[in-house]
Amino acid sequence: MKSIFNEPEKQIMLSGIQPTGIFTLGNYIGAIKNWRKVQDKYNCLYFIANLHSLTVRNDPQKLKQLTLDCVALLLACGIDVEKSILFIQSHVPEHAELSWVLQCYTQFGELSRMTQFKDKSLKNADNVNAGLFGYPVLMAADILLYQSDFVPIGADQKQHLEITRDIANRFNQLYGPTFKLPNPYIPKSGGRVMSLADPTSKMSKSDKNSNGFISVLDPTDVIINKFKKAVTDSESKIYFSDKKPGISNLITIYSTLAEIEIKEVEEKFRDKGYGEFKLAVGELVAETLKPIQSKYSQLSKNKNYLKDICEKGSQKASVIAKKTLKSVYEKIGIL
Ligand code: TRP
Repeated sequence: MKSIFNEPEKQIMLSGIQPTGIFTLGNYIGAIKNWRKVQDKYNCLYFIANLHSLTVRNDPQKLKQLTLDCVALLLACGIDVEKSILFIQSHVPEHAELSWVLQCYTQFGELSRMTQFKDKSLKNADNVNAGLFGYPVLMAADILLYQSDFVPIGADQKQHLEITRDIANRFNQLYGPTFKLPNPYIPKSGGRVMSLADPTSKMSKSDKNSNGFISVLDPTDVIINKFKKAVTDSESKIYFSDKKPGISNLITIYSTLAEIEIKEVEEKFRDKGYGEFKLAVGELVAETLKPIQSKYSQLSKNKNYLKDICEKGSQKASVIAKKTLKSVYEKIGIL
């Protein structure tokens, strides 16, 4: 069978993002920027995890809209469908099918130990549904369907990758080699971007204080203003330190976007005040996001084009997904 990748010998990288809203600067720096970067080195599959989003209640129209918005944003951020496969999770039904099978090879006890499940059930005490509980198994299916070598993930998803490996290993022990064991991919630069309003917590699009996060679609003046208001300490010297979470967060943002070392940022702003530094970071962020925003506004007008991209993507993804599911069904006796 002809490979759907131009260079089938390259290793496979896979990642997904939930369509819960317009990405933040944190998503861009922590994930998407790296997704773009690794496209030449690996055969990449990127998808919108809309089935995962069902674990909380959504407005149906809004979920549809956000799913397509996310596709447009990923394209605007430089995901290149000539190189990578971009698709919507629900368009490849094998995700849900494999997830069911894998649930039967996952123990209640191990899912009960997932810290994200515990956190989320406390936060949504009125809707602790079985989907929330099985969430990591759907994620395992996403990963294992494509025989992924690497999954770029943040610290909050590390446990989910570990359980994926455990499930894969268990299945392979029972039925012989079926799934490749995926490894976490930790990018060289980037890392966690913290809230501008409370630099001890992660930047999040669900933050009630909108000064805490930068949406990648925020206009320049809004971005500059949010950085001007960014919470810092009172020392007024610019260097990276655990004791200075606000300034260190700004240094990280500057360093990743300018693609220079933390040390070089410290050097560059050694004799400058906080005000000047905050403005410089805000300007760099605005400048970085501008071309993404204009590309996004063009793309999002063309729904048919976006739908076409998704269809082509899911067709390609299906070829791999079907092959894996077929071998699984074969091994476990599903006619
Ligand atoms: N759970 C991930 C998140 O919320 C999204 C996701 C779903 C994912 N399936 C995946 C990430 C598979 C990596 C691989 O961030």
